[in-house]
Amino acid sequence: MCGIVGFVGKKQAAPILLECLEKLEYRGYDSAGISLLSDSKITTHKTTGRIHKLNELTDCGKSLVGNIGIGHTRWATHGAPSDRNAHPHMSNDNKFSVVHNGIIENYIELTNKLKSQGIKFNSETDTEVVAHLLSMYYTGDFLEAVHKTVSVLEGSFALGILCQDYPGKLICVRNSSPLIIGVGENENFIASDVTALISHTRDVIYLQDGEIAELSENEVVVFDSKLQKVNKEKSKINWNIDAAEKGGYNHFMEKEIYEQPKAVKDTIEPRIKNGKIVFDDLSLSAKDLSKFNRIVITACGSASYAGQVGRYVLEELLRIPVEVDLASEFRYRNPVVDQNTLMLVISQSGETADTIAAMKEAKARGAHILAIVNVVGSTIAKLADDVLYTWAGPEIAVATTKGYTTQLALLYLIAIFMAEKTKRISDVQTSALLADVEKLPELMQKTLDMNQNIDQLSKKYNTNRSIFFIGRNIDYAVSLEGSLKLKEISYIHSEAYAAGELKHGTLSLIDEGRLVVALCSYEKLFDKLMSNIKEVKARGAKVLSVAQEGNTDIYTESSDVLLVPRINPLFAASLVVLPLQLFAYYIAKENNCDIDKPRNLAKSVTVE
Ligand code: F6R
Repeated sequence: MCGIVGFVGKKQAAPILLECLEKLEYRGYDSAGISLLSDSKITTHKTTGRIHKLNELTDCGKSLVGNIGIGHTRWATHGAPSDRNAHPHMSNDNKFSVVHNGIIENYIELTNKLKSQGIKFNSETDTEVVAHLLSMYYTGDFLEAVHKTVSVLEGSFALGILCQDYPGKLICVRNSSPLIIGVGENENFIASDVTALISHTRDVIYLQDGEIAELSENEVVVFDSKLQKVNKEKSKINWNIDAAEKGGYNHFMEKEIYEQPKAVKDTIEPRIKNGKIVFDDLSLSAKDLSKFNRIVITACGSASYAGQVGRYVLEELLRIPVEVDLASEFRYRNPVVDQNTLMLVISQSGETADTIAAMKEAKARGAHILAIVNVVGSTIAKLADDVLYTWAGPEIAVATTKGYTTQLALLYLIAIFMAEKTKRISDVQTSALLADVEKLPELMQKTLDMNQNIDQLSKKYNTNRSIFFIGRNIDYAVSLEGSLKLKEISYIHSEAYAAGELKHGTLSLIDEGRLVVALCSYEKLFDKLMSNIKEVKARGAKVLSVAQEGNTDIYTESSDVLLVPRINPLFAASLVVLPLQLFAYYIAKENNCDIDKPRNLAKSVTVE
């Protein structure tokens, strides 16, 4: 999604803006631009394509003067990717320059009104109207013009704005789109997320929806929607810079795959004290937990697939119904939830627009919202009744890996915690389950070590144009994630099926040489899965199986076998997914795909 940066200070702004924009590249974009304010004049440079084009045009920003500026990476929603539609957008009198993330929902109505007053538009974007409104409302007071403009906008918007008459001032606004302020020594920043800022400052201010901030070199003043000053606390970012760099790996995705044992350890370890799970700050007592007669999990994409795994574990331990609902469907479904419903909201970024809308919908109907989020201070973290963080560190690759496995780890802990508190499992069972969960980081490392030659398999299978994933029980839930990982980064068509469903239609797609990835870790149903494997083999398929160590039977029916260490089947997803991530990664690498930034995709989906 679009990325915003802004700088005001003593240094030359353009090189800083370009460097910060590069840090936001992972969010996905198709054009980029910057505006600088110097000598009471705003100059703007923008282009389609990557930031290196802007770097070439401006000698990495060195040729552009000015100590204040704003920058943007655009992920096209309204209007094709083009130089014209790239941000920043200027008012016709060149007084204002604006960068925007989000969608101005009433832009057509506002645009028509302005056009009828003779105002000329230069792009097809929803953003340009903001620049013209600023100019229309401006009577010499920058803040007042911003306030008036914002009061007529509907939708989601994070804005960064320069005004020609205010050489040392940058104004930003946040409304349902992410935006944070970085506070430095004699310099201040705005950015869509902290990765853009950590090489400059670790002190940040999180804005709430509706807030407007005025930044100058030495001061940040925040106002609420009625222009009353608000006292804001600074928060410290504790991610280190290495976490946002590739550190010797070829791609962020590769690095993040190998970071998973540590990320899961960081997520689990601080929460297990003296053989018990301790969730600091969780407001729910044992009595509160007992009143929930239903759990609804809502999320998008991989986060929803983590939820699918969570459903099996939660139902097994809690014996109450658990549903997993795609947030984009839930929000428009007139859902049945009430005060006895616990909603688990899962999101790596904490900014996914559909997930936010779904949680608001459930909250309005009385559900208690417990969010599982990676980004501290994100919108979902702020709106939830309770939040538990996955301590995965920054995830840069568009395709999630450590986000997903840390979500799984927290779901296991939540299931065990709730089962223990509501006396559905004994102390002995709790200890045994926790011992299994605590083994995960080591077993994940072992799984990665055991599967180092997957790159060889990718050479064998990378020309398949359609690959199927099958499994039963938790293996089925993991197959959804394995298939998504493969298709999103390698552009190879892939589908995941509950193995028992094959006969109900899918089997007709199986033909000579078709690759079927069979997940066989759930040994209770191993014989059933073997029958499914035989069915696809009889139709000419090649079978790549993933099975637990020591399962010798699987070799008879498979072309290739990937092994994972033995573990309690409830937690096997955390291991089985690893070879699937590696398989997707190497197939994409073999096919020269843009692994960290797959085409058409964005990291954090802040619009519907
Ligand atoms: C796929 C992927 C996406 C996200 C989804 C939700 O690899 O990363 O499917 O899982 O867009 O994003 P978050 O977790 O940020 O809400």
